[in-house]
Amino acid sequence: MTDVYILGIESSCDETAAAVVRSGEKVISNVIFSQIAMHQPYGGVVPELASREHLRAILPVVRKALSDAGQTYQSTDAFAVTQGPGLAGSLLVGISYAKALAFALDKPLITVNHLEGHIHAVLLEERQKGNYELRFPLLALVVSGGHTHLYLAEQQGEIWSYENIGRTRDDAAGEAFDKVAKLLGLGYPGGPVIDKLAPHGDATAVKFPPSQIKNVDRRKSAESEQAPGGPRFDFSYSGIKTAVLRYVQTHNLQPSIEARRQALAAIAKPAIEDYLTRCDRQTLDLVASFQRAMVEDLTRKTLAAARAHNVATLFVTGGVAANDELRQRFERDAAMDGVPVYFPSRPLSTDNAAMIAAAAYPKFLARNFAGMDFSAEAGLVLK
Ligand code: KG4
Ligand code: ZN
Repeated sequence: MTDVYILGIESSCDETAAAVVRSGEKVISNVIFSQIAMHQPYGGVVPELASREHLRAILPVVRKALSDAGQTYQSTDAFAVTQGPGLAGSLLVGISYAKALAFALDKPLITVNHLEGHIHAVLLEERQKGNYELRFPLLALVVSGGHTHLYLAEQQGEIWSYENIGRTRDDAAGEAFDKVAKLLGLGYPGGPVIDKLAPHGDATAVKFPPSQIKNVDRRKSAESEQAPGGPRFDFSYSGIKTAVLRYVQTHNLQPSIEARRQALAAIAKPAIEDYLTRCDRQTLDLVASFQRAMVEDLTRKTLAAARAHNVATLFVTGGVAANDELRQRFERDAAMDGVPVYFPSRPLSTDNAAMIAAAAYPKFLARNFAGMDFSAEAGLVLK
């Protein structure tokens, strides 16, 4: 089979990304322009600013992805773009650009669901390592700043399909990391900082009983709620955020949080030592305990779903999958159940376009091409 070079474009949130991937199995180039620094002062992504920055970045990012790959617009076989879910204005920048390229160059255009991209990041990573064996049923936990979803994935020929068997009822797991970090004066985004600070605290110091990871429907058990298609394995993370807030209030941590916020804001790019010297023991213990509770809840519910569906392979992907403790816990606990668990490398865990180009490859083989009449879908569902 001849090699297929797909140029992927991703602009669903605060990263403008483009990548060239060969035949769904090899990253040839992977360019990510992160807007994090611009959104930092606001403590989260500001949609209007995000679309404006995507407009500025899209052309140089795509050009760099092509030149890093030694490719040209003409030499690529197809263009792939994220259709959703994400911020409508941000998605539109990537979509308009990809449409223009496909139209002008008369090449196939493929639309990809961002969440399917995260799942294919794991596949891409395994293929790069030479692992082509994949056993089904396959369960994927997609855990990021906007999503906490469990999907059962199937493959028939080149066609992949997905069944959602769990999702968050309120905050996504990454959102909880971000909100807790903001609450503790640790800046934005919270996940990477909490990940690095947690090993310096005592994870058993503050107890977050499972009931604080709120069970929306208290009449039924948190992880196994009977639904028409089988049991559901839903998550809920707004309760733990409130529990951290309550801890801060009852232990009068507010003055030290404010001092830390101001001190860190004065440092352009704080290093981990800058955070450590501004965190007392109590705060480090709180951070470690919060992360432990999140990791335990994510692994417990995912593995309960894996058992219920007799899963042969587990994928854990999305920004939060970059978390060290989460990886270690999944590796340990999935091994006890005899289920192999796979993660993307850290650069492919968070948003990127290589995952979009990789997810587009089976669609290219199936000639599943998009017309010019589709638009951004902020709430696009993965099926
Ligand atoms: O996949 P992603 O880049 O964007 C979305 O699709 O949302 O995920 C970003 C999220 C943020 O909430 C960020 O705090 C979280 O992933 N994150 C982490 C880590 N790295 C990123 N959470 C925990 N530990 C990390 N190491
Ligand atoms: Zn994502």
